[in-house]
Amino acid sequence: MLDELKKIEKKALKALEDAEDEAELQSWNTAHLGRKSALMDVFTQMSRLGKEERPQVGRRANEVKIALETAFDARAGEIKRLVVEGSLKGEKLDVTLPGRRVKRGRLHPITQTMRRIYNIFAEMGFQVYRSRDVETDEYNFELLNFPKHHPARDMQDSFYTNKEGIILRTHTSPGQIHAMREFAPEPVRFILPGMCYRYEQVTTRSEMQFTQVEGLAVGKNITFGDLKGTLADFARRFFGQNVRSRFRASYFPFTEPSAEMDIECFVCGGDGCSVCKHTGWLEILGSGMVHPTVLRNGGYDPKVYSGFAFGMGPERLTMLRHGIDDIRYFWRNDMRFLEQF
Ligand code: DAH
Repeated sequence: MLDELKKIEKKALKALEDAEDEAELQSWNTAHLGRKSALMDVFTQMSRLGKEERPQVGRRANEVKIALETAFDARAGEIKRLVVEGSLKGEKLDVTLPGRRVKRGRLHPITQTMRRIYNIFAEMGFQVYRSRDVETDEYNFELLNFPKHHPARDMQDSFYTNKEGIILRTHTSPGQIHAMREFAPEPVRFILPGMCYRYEQVTTRSEMQFTQVEGLAVGKNITFGDLKGTLADFARRFFGQNVRSRFRASYFPFTEPSAEMDIECFVCGGDGCSVCKHTGWLEILGSGMVHPTVLRNGGYDPKVYSGFAFGMGPERLTMLRHGIDDIRYFWRNDMRFLEQF
């Protein structure tokens, strides 16, 4: 029996040296210390030994058991250390390598243009007035002096909802009525920014969805001179102090008289090029003196009050400023385009 124990111990210790990972360790443990191991057999067979032999074998068997358990723990510690060392070697960090750049977000080019417009008009005393995107036919057209069934409505093809008389605004002008009705008869000076919607063919020059910034000033003794001065000053602040501007007679149902403003083409300096279509001028906005009917609809007596209004397209202003030749870039969400701003 004692010889047998010696052999068991020797064999087990030898086998332990070959265990190289967690799994092999576990099977070694089952084979050499488990219930069905040779060592445990010795314990089972002890009852059959004589009185003399039994304590000797018992003590020896216990010693072997403790020796194997100790060796097992040592080997387990060793393997654990090797595993950690291996993974440390594999995952070595070079803290001197340059870091990866964090991608910073940025404002959409139209948001940037909008904010420049707000700032310029804020300096001239205009506040921002927010108005709804979903409008009634009444506010979008009728109260702005587009007569019912008048062909002027065809200037702007609308998105209709399935509710009678409810449309997506085709321009920011209906906000003029909301603002006037809220503040009449106080004098007002507002810009009204927002998204507009038109059921139109999408081309390089027109989108179904685009922004506008409307302007409105109403008070006593406001003249066409105020309109011209305000907008010419805006153009200088937006495009540069040397930019020249001119007004051309135009037509809008909600203003009388109406005018469009051009700025001198800053690409060719007025000589004529492809950007200004060889005219030397670039149209940047529509404007006019608020029509007496519109003033009345807003709650102002046109005999006492007058006002001017204007409307401009931030997409168009941005295209001119940066030489962009296709309006569709703005809302296509192509990062290669947006990242340039
Ligand atoms: N609402 C016009 C449009 O969408 C733009 C406009 C022109 C607005 C003249 C005005 C204005 O306030 O006075 O084309």
